[in-house]
Amino acid sequence: MMNTQMLVDEAIEALESQINDTAIIACSGGIDSSVAAVLAHRAVGSMLHCVYVDTGFMRKGETEEVREMFAEMGIELKVVDASERFFHHLEGVTDPEHKRKVIGEQFIRVFEEEQANCGAKFLVQGTIAPDWIESGGGERDVIKSHHNVGGLPEDVDLTIVEPLREFYKDEVRQIARQLKIKSSERQPFPGPGLAVRVLGDLTRPRVEACREACHIVEVRLREAAAEGKCDIPWQYFAALLPVRSVGVHGDARVHGETVVVRAVTSLDGMSARYSEIPHDILAEISTEITNKLKGQVNRVVYDITHKPPGTIEWE
Ligand code: XMP
Repeated sequence: MMNTQMLVDEAIEALESQINDTAIIACSGGIDSSVAAVLAHRAVGSMLHCVYVDTGFMRKGETEEVREMFAEMGIELKVVDASERFFHHLEGVTDPEHKRKVIGEQFIRVFEEEQANCGAKFLVQGTIAPDWIESGGGERDVIKSHHNVGGLPEDVDLTIVEPLREFYKDEVRQIARQLKIKSSERQPFPGPGLAVRVLGDLTRPRVEACREACHIVEVRLREAAAEGKCDIPWQYFAALLPVRSVGVHGDARVHGETVVVRAVTSLDGMSARYSEIPHDILAEISTEITNKLKGQVNRVVYDITHKPPGTIEWE
């Protein structure tokens, strides 16, 4: 592999020649879009408009963290709260592919509004190799439509620029470190966010439950890793399943939903092994989730599926 500084220089040069007018980029704060934004900002400066769309499917505290990260890097970031619109269009949508399509479309609609505001002609995206390979862009079957590929409507009126298209996650991480991007060590988070971790109906209370459960998994595993009790997994989170089972609260038998905890080791997300988390840590996570989400969730399970045959996310 070329040295990282050379990759950075080449990417910036390519962007300089590709972008000759106002550009816009959706910044989620994640490593891929942040690297794409910093590269494009270095290439075209204030011709690039960075927009953060709060879809309502972000993790706990995420919007503020992203705002701060961009402020520290000296890049202007516009935060758009579009959660109302996403929840509205996803009402009654439970099919995973349909969800991704709707999210992709709404993303683009929000962008068209932002594009109209700033007159952008180019759309910079942080698509990396697994995103399009797994969306059927190569010889392979469609595994899932990643929002930044499969969900694009055909009438989109922007020229797409994808500086990270040929890179895998570990390479992008290396570039992020080189660029001193704060989120370089952050675990991956899917574009459609918690929407693909809430199986079934996307109601606000269900998304909120998933947000809390994800937060508990993240905090507990980071603490455990800091105390040397386990290695930090490559990716670790919770998903909410629309599976109701009977539980007990005092004397009453109640129906509640199920949270599945997922933690995997991987190099690039293309394949993965489930992480062997010590049982006492899993027990603490389970207790905290059922306490915090009393009445809503009464069962926590741990996913012991490798990829393949499972995927890392549940949708
Ligand atoms: P799967 O679930 O396909 O995920 O094994 C592989 C890696 O990709 C992330 N992922 C996404 N990333 N947009 C993204 O940018 C998406 O729609 C998306 N879906 C999954 C997933 O979190 C894992 O790291």
